[in-house]
Amino acid sequence: MTSDTIAAPRTPTAARRRGSNLEKWGWIYMRASGVLLVVLIFGHLFINLVAGDGVRQIDFAFVVGKYATPFWQWWDVIMLWLALIHGANGMRTIINDYVTHARTRTVLVWAVGLAAAFLILLGTLVVFTFDPCLGVTQDSSLWSMCKG
Ligand code: HEM
Repeated sequence: MTSDTIAAPRTPTAARRRGSNLEKWGWIYMRASGVLLVVLIFGHLFINLVAGDGVRQIDFAFVVGKYATPFWQWWDVIMLWLALIHGANGMRTIINDYVTHARTRTVLVWAVGLAAAFLILLGTLVVFTFDPCLGVTQDSSLWSMCKG
């Protein structure tokens, strides 16, 4: 094969013959998480915007109700993790495809990874530690619910 010949996509290289193939698992992850995200995102949109009173039902009490329920906490956290890892891995692919300067590529991939990790941590903490009574005082409309 001369240097200007592009190898067939399935031609194994030395690196691919041994060990786990992270790029392959990344490719599979994008498809598997995509299927799950269709269910999670459209379920989320249906419950929030269509079922019950539709979009008019969304207020603080609606969110309080959802986050008092382990089912919706886990629904949202799984959606958060899958979407952020999916989005970050997708951005990594785009960066690797388009950024030719090696150091810039490394910096950008790390920036995307750190941003995703930070948002996953923050979002997970918010969902599981959300407390509607935090900081509520006597002059708040939530006082009667929270004082007990
Ligand atoms: C409705 C659910 C979703 C489905 C079914 C889905 C499906 C996919 C699939 C199959 C790929 C791989 C495409 C390829 O390798 O050529 C992909 C890429 C990508 N996805 Fe998603 N996705 C969904 C939601 C999301 C969300 C919520 C985000 C953002 C957080 C996102 C961001 C991306 C990005 C940035 C890429 C890379 C695009 C590229 O390689 O050109 N996707 N998606």
